[in-house]
Amino acid sequence: MTVNDGGPMTSTQSSPKVAIVTGAGSGIGAATALELASSGIRVLGVGRREEALRRTAKQHSLIDYVTADLREPTAPDEVVRTAVERWGRLDVVVNNAGTYLQAPLQEVSDDAVSDLITIHIVAPTRLTRAALPLLKASRGSVVNISSTYGHRPIPGSSHYGAVKAALEHLTQSWALELAPDGIRVNAVAPGPTESEVITAAGFTPAEKEAIAAAQIETIPLRRRGTPEDIARWIVHLAGPDADWVTGQILTVDGGLELL
Ligand SMILES: NC(=O)c1ccc[n+]([C@@H]2O[C@H](COP(=O)([O-])OP(=O)(O)OC[C@H]3O[C@@H](n4cnc5c(N)ncnc54)[C@H](OP(=O)(O)O)[C@@H]3O)[C@@H](O)[C@H]2O)c1
Repeated sequence: MTVNDGGPMTSTQSSPKVAIVTGAGSGIGAATALELASSGIRVLGVGRREEALRRTAKQHSLIDYVTADLREPTAPDEVVRTAVERWGRLDVVVNNAGTYLQAPLQEVSDDAVSDLITIHIVAPTRLTRAALPLLKASRGSVVNISSTYGHRPIPGSSHYGAVKAALEHLTQSWALELAPDGIRVNAVAPGPTESEVITAAGFTPAEKEAIAAAQIETIPLRRRGTPEDIARWIVHLAGPDADWVTGQILTVDGGLELL
């Protein structure tokens, strides 16, 4: 894990609210970091690629970052510790980092399933658990990033759908479990959105284009989402306007889930 040298922390720096956004180097996470920072919230972005995180951080002075592979057992604790050391508080956790897996049952490997569970379920569990004392102190909130396919079947990518379904279950159970502490837990479930997720899953540019074209055909509003389409709802659910909202799964997908 390497840490961006943001300089020493002074007492005046501790006043803005602080958010951790995982997967902040690209796509939905990068847009969320920028949207949070634009609303005056300090952001600690997390991801494996320092160059990608640095690009995000360059967009706003309130965005800082730490590199970490969140599948490593100790990484989530270290991320929370970094936020505390720098700013002494934590108000929002956005569990966004993730990868897509297309693999029919006949072909899927045990390792690929384990990897998916680790990044989508185990890492958010470790990170949110480590953040609990701080979220209690700030009466903060958690936003988990699911998918339309967290509550719809997805043949050929069943394990991806399954981990998102599990994340939606965690969202609603944690919402009840943590309500007595004043911590709200919600999820945003995006539909097909422009990002690096398909490239990161190993598809060629031509395959990516074909997938995008097929997706557009199935979306009632006839376009894929932009990261900003998703980020504004993440920030909305994380903030004070949603003070009385917890345990909700907000689908943002151009109407796809209705079909
Ligand atoms: N795009 C869509 O169509 C869509 C639809 C529904 C849901 N989602 C969900 O939205 C979330 C964000 O995805 P995106 O579409 O914005 O894709 P993306 O651009 O690929 O972003 C995913 C981010 O997660 C980070 N990440 C992946 N594995 C990690 C690890 N082991 N440790 C730390 N960071 C890791 C990646 O950064 P590094 O590679 O640098 O680590 C990357 O910046 C995911 O949970 C995805 O499942 C996306």
